[in-house]
Amino acid sequence: MKIADLDFEPLINADTIEKRVKVIGAQLSEDYKDTKPLFIGVLNGSFLFIADLIKHIDIPCEITFTKLASYYGGTKSTLKIRDDIDISVDIKGRDIVIIEDIVDTGNTAHYLIDKLKLKEPASIKLCSLLLKPASLLTKIDELKYIGFEIENHFVVGYGLDYKEMGRNLKDIYKKV
Ligand code: IMP
Repeated sequence: MKIADLDFEPLINADTIEKRVKVIGAQLSEDYKDTKPLFIGVLNGSFLFIADLIKHIDIPCEITFTKLASYYGGTKSTLKIRDDIDISVDIKGRDIVIIEDIVDTGNTAHYLIDKLKLKEPASIKLCSLLLKPASLLTKIDELKYIGFEIENHFVVGYGLDYKEMGRNLKDIYKKV
């Protein structure tokens, strides 16, 4: 499949994603059953993941969003983060679960976690649909929930884009 100037091939199909999302939802529901967690979705890439995940969470919870960007339309992280939309909720004393589409270098996750810690939440954990372990520059202690570990492919689909295209695809594809 061609998206803009690049070719992509299937990596993870919609059925496999759905099953894994269900398991993570059940796990979060169990782990946070005695608290009222605040889920923070990191836009744009996590919009489908969070929409599906939240349907499998059967405990009282709240959802809010922040918008960060680090890729600027290419296939490599720029290691610079653009802070587009900040969260509007008071997180002091709250149990926070950040929902990311993918952790690549880990730069975005560290940036957001450090920023949120200044606001004194009770706890912060990170849930990411995808993780590229070989790209990760520094360990993220808060990373507790991972959908799939993948090799160092550039991927699109299920919310993830290449040049803003491909977010609507049901499956995840990797660059050929
Ligand atoms: P990091 O800061 O390098 O961990 O990158 C995190 C962000 O870069 C993610 O939230 C994505 O928006 C984007 N990103 C990283 N890898 C990919 C990819 O393979 N496809 C599309 N976007 C990616």
